[in-house]
Amino acid sequence: MFDKVKRTGSVRRRVEVTELTEKDDVLVVGGGGREHAIVAKLRESARVGKVYGAPGNAGMDVIETGIGATDIDAIVEFAAAHENIKMTVVAPDDPLAMGLVDKLVARGIRAFGPTRAAAKLEWSKAYAKDVMRRYGIPTAGYETFTDVAAAKAYAATCKIPTVIKADGLALGKGVLICETREAALAAIDEVMTDKKFGAAGNAVVVEDFLRGYEVSLLTFTDGEHVSLMPTSCDHKRALDGDLGLNTGGMGAYAPCPAFGKALLDKTLRDVVRPTIEAMKAEGAPFKGVLYFGLMVDGDDVRVLEYNARFGDPETQSVLPLLESDLYEIFGACIDGTLDKLDIRWTDKKSINVVLASGGYPVEYKKGCPISGLDDVDGARVYFAGVKRGADGGLVTNGGRVLCVQAVADDFGAARDAVYRNIEKITFDDCFYRKDIGEKLVIG
Ligand code: AMP
Ligand code: GLY
Repeated sequence: MFDKVKRTGSVRRRVEVTELTEKDDVLVVGGGGREHAIVAKLRESARVGKVYGAPGNAGMDVIETGIGATDIDAIVEFAAAHENIKMTVVAPDDPLAMGLVDKLVARGIRAFGPTRAAAKLEWSKAYAKDVMRRYGIPTAGYETFTDVAAAKAYAATCKIPTVIKADGLALGKGVLICETREAALAAIDEVMTDKKFGAAGNAVVVEDFLRGYEVSLLTFTDGEHVSLMPTSCDHKRALDGDLGLNTGGMGAYAPCPAFGKALLDKTLRDVVRPTIEAMKAEGAPFKGVLYFGLMVDGDDVRVLEYNARFGDPETQSVLPLLESDLYEIFGACIDGTLDKLDIRWTDKKSINVVLASGGYPVEYKKGCPISGLDDVDGARVYFAGVKRGADGGLVTNGGRVLCVQAVADDFGAARDAVYRNIEKITFDDCFYRKDIGEKLVIG
């Protein structure tokens, strides 16, 4: 009897030792602020060991592999050659569209992210619209064209303003909002005849212009079950007051207070679940993060776009609110066991503001030293366009350089923490929006 207890005790101890020493290494594909936020959250998991980046960046505390995010064969080889890499997380749109997840899975490597067929919801706007039409998911009215003359004939009579969208991936730039009929006809030429966005313009979607406010709703899904993250709001224009050029995103906050429980329930019922079911019926169940870009007008909610991945910079505000283990969530999405998890989020508020290089999104300098990072307190810094300079410090290496993010009980305190810390960080020609989350605070 006594013996038995002792044996049980020693077995237990051995299990604990195994848990402590045998951690899983993870490879994260991508190298921006979004990936940094993913890596930071994965690092909070007791089960995660080393984190590799393909390519990662010098600011995000990963082992940089030197492999680019679209070098998909090299990524597969790297993951296959490192036995202790137990999961590869594919964050950006391009490698998803190139079928990286399919290739990893074919080699027996656990991969987080949708297959190429499921990611088509993002890489073909014509396909996404067709799915929405066939499965009754609310979206803007539209027609799709592969023929320039037919597209122009439709645009000659459609409602104005109208929206012309290149079918394929175009770095978020393939959407042209046209206030006049002439602009619509010119936009069709830009996309289809001049091929301003390359092959992405082989087809166009001509879509009704929707009014309202935009909300990003990110979800985890294992193809069958779905779990909603807190809503968030991106700020795409470069300058205060939503002026200036479209960018990859200049800041975001979460959650979106205007989008309350009733709207969430309705969106889950009419938009989210029908999309998960639609992809099952299409034979391409969606596993990963499915992002719903929504336009909201009163209680009318329509899908503007799907993304097959975490959004940037929404992720830098959303993931810091997560209290559960992200590595475990990713595993459950892969294994089809998401319904077994109780995913917890704090109800605090989160804001992030992007610090960009002067001239972004057009032309900007690189290689400028970044200072003041050691003085940051009460906020986090997520790095995007940075690299290690000659003296070992971080220097700028892209348009969006970093983002400063804070969580607090209310938006006012989160915002103060972010802007107070931004004051401490300097690099040549740095610019940022001063009005991220302002309306939330001053009403
Ligand atoms: P998308 O890549 O489809 O989300 O489009 C990029 C941005 O263009 C959206 O975030 C909206 O600001 C705007 N947009 C796209 N489609 C529409 C639409 N039908 N009506 C109004 N604005 C739109
Ligand atoms: N923030 C929008 C996107 O990631 O596409």
